[in-house]
Amino acid sequence: EASTSRVVIDLDVPGPTISRHLYGHFAEHLGRCIYGGFYVGEDSPIPNEGGIRLDVVEALRALDIPNLRWPGGCFADEYHWRDGVGPKADRPSMVNTHWGNVEENNHFGTHEFMALCELLGAAPYVNGNVGSGTVREMSEWVEYLTRDGDSPMVRLRKANGRDDPWRVPFWGIGNEAWGCGGNQRAEAYADLARQYSTFLRDHGDNKLYRIAAGASDDDLAWTEALLKAVSCLGCGREPNNIFQAISIHYYTVAGTWEQKGSATDFNLDDYYQTLRKAQGIERIISAHSALMDAYDPDRKIGLVLDEWGTWWDVEPGTNPGFLYQQNAMRDALVAGVHFDVFHRHAERLVMANIAQTVNVLQAMLLTDADGGLVRTPTYHVFEMNKGHQDAVAVPTHVVEQPLYDSMELVSASASVKDGRGLVSVSNLDPVAPLDVVLDLRGAAVREAAGRLLTASKPQAYNTVDLAAVAPVPLAVEPEPRGLRVTLPPHSFATVSLVL
Ligand code: AHR
Repeated sequence: EASTSRVVIDLDVPGPTISRHLYGHFAEHLGRCIYGGFYVGEDSPIPNEGGIRLDVVEALRALDIPNLRWPGGCFADEYHWRDGVGPKADRPSMVNTHWGNVEENNHFGTHEFMALCELLGAAPYVNGNVGSGTVREMSEWVEYLTRDGDSPMVRLRKANGRDDPWRVPFWGIGNEAWGCGGNQRAEAYADLARQYSTFLRDHGDNKLYRIAAGASDDDLAWTEALLKAVSCLGCGREPNNIFQAISIHYYTVAGTWEQKGSATDFNLDDYYQTLRKAQGIERIISAHSALMDAYDPDRKIGLVLDEWGTWWDVEPGTNPGFLYQQNAMRDALVAGVHFDVFHRHAERLVMANIAQTVNVLQAMLLTDADGGLVRTPTYHVFEMNKGHQDAVAVPTHVVEQPLYDSMELVSASASVKDGRGLVSVSNLDPVAPLDVVLDLRGAAVREAAGRLLTASKPQAYNTVDLAAVAPVPLAVEPEPRGLRVTLPPHSFATVSLVL
């Protein structure tokens, strides 16, 4: 029997703008994300441009990827950019000690990353090395990338085949400095972030948005140390004139770090536990935002969730250091829940990056060496939700819904842009269908069209041979209060409105 829900949406009450950068991505030198995922090399039989896999680019272009973070993660703090420029045959190798202890030949470096961003139409988010690098090394990388005219790094860039500077809007000052980024104490890192920021120059009209490496989960003390290091209420100096944002990381780990559970072999308890953990992102963002409001009431400093997503045990038989996992309908629901929360917090949360785009953790795409490409269930949520990018969030209240052990089983959000609206709604109940009334207030709806993502079971996933989870049209019925849709169990839906 179907449960019922009512979702009240105030279409004429504008909230914050949902930055398109909340739909950002992350690509690390980890497992098969770069090598075999994005990059196959120029000699590969798989169609490529400069070694970059063209089917991957084409699939991702449909998502309107706003930005791409690179080269890590933990890898960023052992990456030396000079090893990754110049003729490939001359580039020195290194050992990727964090991820599988494999040799990294540096064939995918700065020029390849910038070419990838150009192909994707994505803004580069470069993460610099604080843990094992130097201020000079990072400062010169910025010069190499963004300076015009003539200078030592500009001459080097030109010698490597690129005359014009690139635009790099986003810059990370290390990663997880409390852990793989150097096991630093919060105050010590806060001072380093100030120091590094000083030498991350704006060359010409390239304005860097500097992002300090932040906390994991609810480590508010870390965020507070960073805020204390830059704020001086009443002193006349803006809190964001040193670095402009602070990051946080939050992973949906349903089990323990030792036993995270399978991506596809799970029971109902595991299912609920996962979605409960995913819903925890609301608590995390609320807590960090509230703390930031105390130190930065004018919201000058951005909050950047530059790693999020599900983290399961690796697929059986794969390298444990490669973090290769399947992606099921349950993962799609985790993504839908996160986006609803992001939209509600768009006044402080300015960017988010799912970990990671191809072949690692909660990926959009899975590839194989024979040229196979799979769009995961999570991919479809990004595609169905892309109309929220740069739209204005509107208040969305789930005023009636089924609960499971006090857990809310309906998640929803909505936005408006250019005379159109987009509503996202998930039925998290794994068993019962849901009759949802969208109680639309404040604007007349002239047309409505629905799309649905679901599957026979939450464990369903896609393979090269079978797209078991893909969007289909959803019937939308008129209703005295607005619109009505019926959602199957464990489903995600969008309703587009012409206002
Ligand atoms: O995304 C995988 C890893 O998770 C990143 O390298 C690190 O920042 C985090 O711990």
